[in-house]
Amino acid sequence: MVMARKEDHLRMRMEHIRFGKEELERRRKSPVHVKAEEIDAQLKEHNHVYIVDPRLGFNQRTFRFWINLRTPGEEMEFSGWQLGHRHTVEAVIYILKGHGYSVIDGIKYPWQAGDLICVPVFAWHRHHNESGDELLYLAATTGPLSMAMGIAIYEEEKYPEYWIFAQKGEEAMKTLVPGGAEIPPEARVKFNSADWKPKQASNGEPSPAEIYYQQLAYAEGEEKLRRAGKVLVKGSELKFGATPMGRVAYAVDPKLGFHVKVLGTLIAEIPGGKRSGAHRHIYEETNYILSGEGYSIIEDQRYDWKKGDTLVIPVFAWHQHFNTGKDTARFLVHHGRVAMESTGYVHTQQGEPADY
Ligand SMILES: [Fe+2]
Ligand SMILES: [Fe+2]
Repeated sequence: MVMARKEDHLRMRMEHIRFGKEELERRRKSPVHVKAEEIDAQLKEHNHVYIVDPRLGFNQRTFRFWINLRTPGEEMEFSGWQLGHRHTVEAVIYILKGHGYSVIDGIKYPWQAGDLICVPVFAWHRHHNESGDELLYLAATTGPLSMAMGIAIYEEEKYPEYWIFAQKGEEAMKTLVPGGAEIPPEARVKFNSADWKPKQASNGEPSPAEIYYQQLAYAEGEEKLRRAGKVLVKGSELKFGATPMGRVAYAVDPKLGFHVKVLGTLIAEIPGGKRSGAHRHIYEETNYILSGEGYSIIEDQRYDWKKGDTLVIPVFAWHQHFNTGKDTARFLVHHGRVAMESTGYVHTQQGEPADY
């Protein structure tokens, strides 16, 4: 048993009060710019290089971001896989180079450079390189958040000794709900994947029993929504449109039919010689420069970037991007806006608008 003294309780109470100010310091000290050269040098030694990750000293809480290189020879190792792996984190993959396909939840999805894949939580999946050449992709997953919550499960076909649920029969193998969804008949709600809402009682409020039955049934509804959610965006089908921040194509977003609750992904464009809008928001964001050259102002500091660099925007830091080249600059943007919408804390402040 933990025996705490009066001083311990006083200290712990002060920690709450000090946290916001100390967190601001941690944000200021966290690295903001990862250069392409650093990543390229590491890719020569490992095929899996973490770019933005709390384990590397970034004050990143929601998602990590890394790059993966697969050579044709290495592909052989994966050829016998039936399941691949699954995890209780959201994952988005952007194909930088090569073509191939993914098998997600038993369905095959072909892709090529410029496409994005969003794997539903706990769906078995494997990726195959068919280009006969190197496959290069960028991945973002919500591992840090799931691990902080103590709910991260990662089951891989290669390591059955670490499986948590997969060896517990056929049902546990197929469900997108960890452990499977066992729903008592009285809790079974007729889910119509698109518009499941809490049932209202005659007096306008659900009874405690109804609220609890909805909790019992929730996993089944979520599983249906996950299986009905989109998993692939073709680069050629991205829809760009003008916003106060500049030209943006939302790629993986709950507003576009993806069943994600934490991680959102978009592509932003800045024409040659133009500047994006300036804004700040209460969520994390990473910007991987897909093309172009220029600089960004992040909390009054200037960072010069080029293709292959990554910018890590701290929570509530002002940021604005300037394209100093002739060609269009493109950013792959991952953000935690969706997580913050789920918790009700989104706050976005728009400053100077884009000039295009
Ligand atoms: Fe995965
Ligand atoms: Fe932003």
